[in-house]
Amino acid sequence: MKYATEAVEKERVKVEAKVSKTETRKIEVARSESGIEKRAVKMNASEVCAWFGEKQALFRVGMDIHEREVTAIIGPSGCGKSTLIRCFNRMHETVPGSRFSGEVLLDQQSIYAQKVDPVAVRRRVGMVFQKATPFPTLSIYDNVAVGLKLNGTTERKKLDEVVEKSLKKAALWEEVKDSLKKAGGALSGGQQQRLCIARALAVDLEVLLMDEPCSALDPISTSKIEELIHELRQNYTIIIVTHNMQQAARVSQRTAFMLNGKLIEYASTEKVFTNPSNKMTEDYITGRFG
Ligand SMILES: Nc1ncnc2c1ncn2[C@@H]1O[C@H](COP(=O)(O)OP(=O)(O)OP(=O)(O)O)[C@@H](O)[C@H]1O
Ligand SMILES: [Mg+2]
Repeated sequence: MKYATEAVEKERVKVEAKVSKTETRKIEVARSESGIEKRAVKMNASEVCAWFGEKQALFRVGMDIHEREVTAIIGPSGCGKSTLIRCFNRMHETVPGSRFSGEVLLDQQSIYAQKVDPVAVRRRVGMVFQKATPFPTLSIYDNVAVGLKLNGTTERKKLDEVVEKSLKKAALWEEVKDSLKKAGGALSGGQQQRLCIARALAVDLEVLLMDEPCSALDPISTSKIEELIHELRQNYTIIIVTHNMQQAARVSQRTAFMLNGKLIEYASTEKVFTNPSNKMTEDYITGRFG
C-alpha cells in the first residue's frame, strides 16, 4: 500500500515538473513574441461559409494562418471550430449534404480550384483527431508507412527510413523501436495519438490540423503532445482546436475565438488572453460562459 502511494506521489511530482517546464517556456515565448514576429502567410481563409444541409455552421470566416506558428482555435461547443479546420483540408465536403462557399489558399493557391485533388491537399494539410485513429490491427510500422504504400512506394529501405524518421519526429521512436510489428491498437492512448502524428508526418505534410488532440489524454501524455507541438513548430504550421484555455496559452502564438459560427477575435495569444478587444472574448476566457 505504502509503495503504491509512493508511486503515485512520484507520478504527481513528474507531472508538476513537466507542467512547470511548459509554463516556463510559455513565458519565454510570450516575451520573445511581444508584438509577434512577422511570418509568411501559409494559409488564408476568406468569406468561408459552411452548411450541413439547411443548417449554416460558418459565417464569412476570414483569417491568415502563419507559417511555422501554432494557431489555437477556441470557443464554446458547437461554435464551428471543427467545421472550420475541416474546411482547411477539404474534409467538410466528405459529409453528405454539406456545402461550402468562400476561399481557402495554401501557399497562395486555392485548395478548392477545379484541378486540385482533395487527396493531395489532405497529404499537405493533415489532421489528427480528438480520439486517436490508428488502424488498430495494422502494425505500428504499417500505420506509419500506410500513406507511402498507398502512394506506391514499395522499396523496403525507403519505407524503413521514413518510418524511423517520422516516429522520431513524433517523439515515439524510443518507445516502440523494438516492437514495430505490434498492432497500433495495442499502444496507450497517448502513444496512439503520437502514432497518428507520425502517420501524418510520413507524407509531405506542411500544415497539421489538430482537433482537441489531448482531450482524451492524461496529464503526462498531454504534456508530451504539447512538447511535441513545440518541436514540430520549427518545421510545420499547426492549427489546434482546444477547449483547454491553459493549453491554448501554453502552445500557441495566435488565438482565434469563435462564437455561433463567426470569428469574433483573432490576435496574438498574449493579447487574446491578457487584453482581448472584444467583450465576448473576455467573458469566454474568464469563464463567464461556454
Ligand atoms: N455532421 C453534421 N451534421 C449536421 N450538423 C453538424 C454536423 N457536424 C456539426 N454540425 C453542426 O455544426 C455546428 C458546428 O459544429 P462543430 O462540430 O464545428 O462545432 P465545434 O466548435 O467543433 O464543437 P465541439 O467543441 O463540441 O467539438 C454545430 O451546430 C453542429 O451541431
Ligand atoms: Mg469540434
